[in-house]
Amino acid sequence: MKKQEIEQLFQSRYGDSQENIFIFNAPGRVNLIGEHIDYNGGYVLPAALEFGTTLAVRRRGDRKVTFASDNFPYVVEYDLGELGRSKGGEWVDYPIGVISELGKLDIPLTSGYDLLYYGEIPNGAGLSSSASLEVVTAFALLVMEGKEQDKVEIARLSQRAENHYVGVNSGIMDQFAVANGAKDHAILLMCDTLEYELVPFRTGLYKLVIGNTNKRRGLVDSKYNERRSQCDEALSLLQAHEPKLQYLAHLQPERLRQLETVFDNRVLLNRAKHVIEENARVLASVEALKANDLHRFGELMNASHDSLRDLYEVSCTELDVMVEEARQIEGTLGSRMTGAGFGGCTVSLVHEDAVASFVDQVGDAYRRRTGLEAEFYVCGVGHGVHEIKEEN
Ligand code: GLA
Repeated sequence: MKKQEIEQLFQSRYGDSQENIFIFNAPGRVNLIGEHIDYNGGYVLPAALEFGTTLAVRRRGDRKVTFASDNFPYVVEYDLGELGRSKGGEWVDYPIGVISELGKLDIPLTSGYDLLYYGEIPNGAGLSSSASLEVVTAFALLVMEGKEQDKVEIARLSQRAENHYVGVNSGIMDQFAVANGAKDHAILLMCDTLEYELVPFRTGLYKLVIGNTNKRRGLVDSKYNERRSQCDEALSLLQAHEPKLQYLAHLQPERLRQLETVFDNRVLLNRAKHVIEENARVLASVEALKANDLHRFGELMNASHDSLRDLYEVSCTELDVMVEEARQIEGTLGSRMTGAGFGGCTVSLVHEDAVASFVDQVGDAYRRRTGLEAEFYVCGVGHGVHEIKEEN
């Protein structure tokens, strides 16, 4: 949305004031490869999307904070003192969680604010609409309060808001990508140290096509937490033989093969196998990207999906159907589910000449096989969180 349009929307919602309106944007994210790795201390390779959440903010003369969204007709209003006392189970829990984490860092809000959010990321599609909401709030309020905006810290505090206030036990990847994304770059993030490298994402004649299954991610929180605890169990079995092993993703694939017998449970072995092999695939993908070998990158995407389906078991029929159909299209180099799984989106790398037939044919076959209507976004890699100062 254009700066001017959001300013108008803001004024029609909140009226005029002497204070200036400031505008910020944080993208959604797509994970290219490295799924269910962040909480296992390994490498992930996400990228920021070109669409996200825009936030318009204006300082108020009193101590009230008001939240509005273009998606909902109502405005939620709190006194600064009562913010964070109770959760409403609504979208405002995300920004309120962030404000409460800022408070814990001794960055209380010094005045009230009017906030208007404009979201372009479909909710529940696994493209990190919640991380985008958190990160844009943290960044905007730090700017408004004249505080330093360290984007790694912003990612961490946004993750804490999600873990502590909203109550989802997610890893750091989404918030990190949304905060630190850079145009035309993927982010190679080492999740245990939070060191990262921006890897040029030059796909030439190939486009990233995100396919939304429009299957709501049912049970995602409980299944997600179950996977996390299975990984913890696998790690403690391995630690009996590798006492220095801190994170599951740090074990080498060859070493896991030697230690297979420590698992009396096939499920835990499969979970560990996925994590350790997926971590290796992330590094191989970065090599492939640096060597401009997109065919290899596509193969690794395919292998990632197959492992998430068979070993980690976080895919679902809708994701598998969409991936299967995507791979049928000549010009598709690779296709996989992205994000937590159990619904949400796929990501494919498709030759630009094949994109139109990809959208038609995959959409048709998907409808026929699942009864659901898919949506597709042909998308470049955008910027991380930023202030929008001039019209662009
Ligand atoms: C969700 C979580 C992330 C990550 C992915 C799976 O998006 O928020 O932290 O664990 O699932 O890779």
